[in-house]
Amino acid sequence: MPLFAPLNPPLPPWPDARVWIIGASTGIGAATAKKLLAAGARVALSARQKDKLREVARGFPATQALIEPLDFTDAEALARAQRRIFGAWGGCDLVLIVAGTHKEVRAWELIAADADALLKVNLNGPLAATAAVLPALLAQGNGAIGLVSSVAGYRGLPKALVYGASKAGLINFAETLYMDLRPRGLGVYLINPGFVKTPLTDKNEFKMPALITAEEAADDILAGLRAGAFEIHFPRRFTCPLKLLRILPYRAYFALIHRMTGL
Ligand SMILES: NC(=O)c1ccc[n+]([C@@H]2O[C@H](COP(=O)([O-])OP(=O)(O)OC[C@H]3O[C@@H](n4cnc5c(N)ncnc54)[C@H](OP(=O)(O)O)[C@@H]3O)[C@@H](O)[C@H]2O)c1
Repeated sequence: MPLFAPLNPPLPPWPDARVWIIGASTGIGAATAKKLLAAGARVALSARQKDKLREVARGFPATQALIEPLDFTDAEALARAQRRIFGAWGGCDLVLIVAGTHKEVRAWELIAADADALLKVNLNGPLAATAAVLPALLAQGNGAIGLVSSVAGYRGLPKALVYGASKAGLINFAETLYMDLRPRGLGVYLINPGFVKTPLTDKNEFKMPALITAEEAADDILAGLRAGAFEIHFPRRFTCPLKLLRILPYRAYFALIHRMTGL
């Protein structure tokens, strides 16, 4: 294999692609779904809010935009949707697991039940969705899974006590998944956004550096998928410096983050 060959096998051209997006009702997932539909892909749209999924699908025929509402923390609902979507299309080329939630937590605010609830959505949900589609993808012998984590999973950050742990876990999961699945012909994409303006970040009261729109995030995701990159991270002006911080020794890292955030 050439040294800089794409890490993932190529996806079909969008007009031939069948994509299932979990977390397609708002924000990054909705913007990505709209762009894929506009590019001619068949897209199955999942999340809990059916009315919002309908809005995303508006203007596209039901044969192209399949609405499959579900709560992805419900394993049976995931299994039912997997059977319906793969059955309707005779397979699936890409499962994008975008769904997630966010809550700021500092050490003195830690409540075990709240932490469980967040981990259930941000970590157990993606793991359950992966488990629901893997047997069919392995049987196909092709296709890919994309997992949306966050740069907040790179290293510890103030206010991200539980969110950061969930996203760090998801990054590790995606890396390990890649090593198992690539030799079997499947692709794995790890998507690490910086700050994106969505209902999730609209709650933030601080000024978010390098904030981009959900449409810009979707463009970066589509470009990364097309390039076959394992990690798709954006905007680079924010994520590249954060990657450098990853290699700092703890003493320097803690001091720098304190100076940057005041926390
Ligand atoms: N925005 C950012 O700055 C940013 C940065 C880094 C990473 N991310 C990650 O990007 C992903 C998308 O976030 P976003 O910013 O686009 O936020 P968002 O607009 O709040 O979207 C979250 C999506 O997840 C779905 N979802 C949540 N719980 C679900 C459940 N139990 N079952 C099914 N779907 C569920 C929501 O749909 P329903 O409510 O309809 O179920 C919605 O479609 C998240 O994983 C987030 O952690 C975001």
